[in-house]
Amino acid sequence: MTAPHLRLGVNIDHVATVRNARGSGYPDPVRAALLAAQAGADGITAHLREDRRHITDDDIARLSAELPVPLNLEMAATEEMLGIALRHKPHAACIVPEKREERTTEGGLDARGQHNLLAPMVTQLRNANIRVSLFIEPDPAQIEAAVRLGAPVVELHTGRYCELEGEAQTAELRRIADAAALAAKNGIEVHAGHGLTFDNVVPVAAIPQLAELNIGHFLIGEAIFDGLAPVVKRMRALMDAAR
Ligand code: PXP
Repeated sequence: MTAPHLRLGVNIDHVATVRNARGSGYPDPVRAALLAAQAGADGITAHLREDRRHITDDDIARLSAELPVPLNLEMAATEEMLGIALRHKPHAACIVPEKREERTTEGGLDARGQHNLLAPMVTQLRNANIRVSLFIEPDPAQIEAAVRLGAPVVELHTGRYCELEGEAQTAELRRIADAAALAAKNGIEVHAGHGLTFDNVVPVAAIPQLAELNIGHFLIGEAIFDGLAPVVKRMRALMDAAR
């Protein structure tokens, strides 16, 4: 059986990181998003962090107005972010844990421990027809918590897999595959992402239950050398070949 098409969501946060390093108007993350979509990205992902260190409110407004492909808004579980999501109504909203001092999203959301905080957010986002996703570790307890919360989508954190090597990496890949199978068995759509590169994407992309990968930092960095369109096309080709 061939696995269904695996969507590629290109995360353009770090185009905004470079822009914000100088307080200039360029490089423009919306321009990068349009180019990525033209090159084969199925969607665009952007994380509006509480401290606005990369993507800004104006970027989200422009992405919402200009994108020809679905926008996936990554957001912390706060009232402020919920209000922004409900105002812009992106296609999808991925709830992520957020700590001010971290460099990137470290670890997954504690969907089990934070049930009471997350339940009303999942409900409100669902009622607004936004595909809610929870960014969680590939852990059966977290999948079960996502089922209890009624989340239609989970995104499995691949950060640990990407950092490990050898047998430890193989074991973590198995954890991701098992979590994907458990989520799919429970009717949840499964995405994955964090830390993926040309070198480590293929075994993840081969997991048949996965419907979407969200990839950012590597693609934007690699674009410095080869240009964004060729880099997106190469990632797409690797993902397609893995299915
Ligand atoms: N998915 C989620 C939920 C994330 O928070 C991030 C990082 O913003 C990514 C995917 C993309 O990770 P990376 O930039 O390492 O490819």
